[in-house]
This record gives sequence, C-alpha cells and structure tokens, in this order.
Amino acid sequence: MIVTLDGPAGSGKSTVAQCLAEKLGVTYLDTGAMYRAITWAALKGQWPLDHPEELARQAQKCRIDFFCHDSHSDSHVKNDAGTHKGIRLDGQDITSLIRSPEVTDASHYIAGNVAIREFLVDQQRLIARQAGSLVTEGRDQGTLVFPNADYKFYLDATAECRAKRRYRQMPKGQVRYEDILNSQIQRDQRDTARLVGALKTADDAIVIDTTEMTLEQVVEKLYKIVTP
Ligand code: DC
Repeated sequence: MIVTLDGPAGSGKSTVAQCLAEKLGVTYLDTGAMYRAITWAALKGQWPLDHPEELARQAQKCRIDFFCHDSHSDSHVKNDAGTHKGIRLDGQDITSLIRSPEVTDASHYIAGNVAIREFLVDQQRLIARQAGSLVTEGRDQGTLVFPNADYKFYLDATAECRAKRRYRQMPKGQVRYEDILNSQIQRDQRDTARLVGALKTADDAIVIDTTEMTLEQVVEKLYKIVTP
C-alpha cells in the first residue's frame, strides 16, 4: 500500500505522515529530507549553486540512506516501523544538520534542478519497492512519483496558520512571526512555480484543510480512510 501526502511547508504533513506510518506499521519516507541532504552537501562542499549541470554532477555522487533512530536508547536499529527516521549522507549522520535555516533557504536550488529531481525520484521509487508499503510525503508524491498510489492526500492550511505553527515551535525571541510568514510565502511561490515537481493537488487526491484541526484529528481522519 502506498499513501502519499503532499502539501505546502508547515501544513503538518511531516508529523501526520510519521504518525500515520507508525499507526499502520509501515515505512515513512520524508522526501524533503533528501532534497535537504543534497543542499547540505552543496553548501558544505561550496558547489556552485547557480550552475545546474555541475550541481547535478556532484549530487549524483551522493549516497543517501535513511536509518531508524531509537530515541530512547540512541542506538541505530534496523526495524523500519515505529521509530524515528535519521538520514545519512555518504555514511555521515546529518539528521539535525539539514534543518538549519541556511539549508532551508538554499534548498530551492536543488529542488529546482531537473536532473537532481530525476535522480531522487528514482531513489524514492526504489525505497517504495523495497518497503512494499509506505507513507511518503513531499510536494510531488501523488502527482509525479507515485501516480498509482492507493491513497493520495493533499494537506493544506492558511499561510497565517502555518506560520503561527512554525513560530510556536521556535525558541522565544529568536525569530519574528512576520519573517516566518514572509519566508513561507516565498517558499510557497517557489514550490508552485517550479517547472518539474511543482506543488499541486493530484486530481484524485483527498484535500484536507488542517487550519482548524489538531494533529490527532488529522491522523485519525486519514487512518479511518486508509483502513475502511
Ligand atoms: O518539506 P521540506 O521543507 O523538508 O522540503 C525541503 C525542500 O525540498 C523544499 O525546497 C521543497 C523541496 N521538496 C521538493 O521539491 N519535492 C519534494 N518531494 C519534497 C521537498
């Protein structure tokens, strides 16, 4: 069974996808983490962000793998379901490094690179084949990567609500709500304007507006739909 969750940044899809995968006992795939991993490598290696061919050439040498990180014992375990996902690039654990504002800001160079997208989409399909059942989230999962998915969801929420959620997650006094909102609006524009892999609703996706819903309510709603 393949379940796809697409939607804009801050729509809650990562947490929802993770909880849903856990409830179903299947693999969870965070495709945004793959774009972030390559972005991190590009910044660290000072790859020329404005040279698409060179970026793609370098990116294709990267080896990305996910591992399950048991947050209680800090040990790396093989079992896929029910544990926290970590990500490695060429063997190095970069799970927390890919969440920096620098990586977030530069990720559009990688997300907008057609050759890198093809390279990552191939890997996403391979992960799905190996997993058998999967809950995957991103921007193009239901439209482009898994057009024949069993269930497709598009999670949305108003820009203000998404920015407020982000703001509440950040340490107090470090960022202004207005800055989060503006950067989110810019990310939405880049996500929807991309020539390949743009954020859009698949014709057969179920659209869920999470503005007035709690995380638990969204997970429960999706769970009921996929386990009729
Ligand atoms: O969801 P996120 O913020 O972790 O995504 C990081 C970047 O990757 C962001 O620029 C959007 C992009 N992305 C994408 O283009 N396609 C996906 N399937 C997932 C993420």
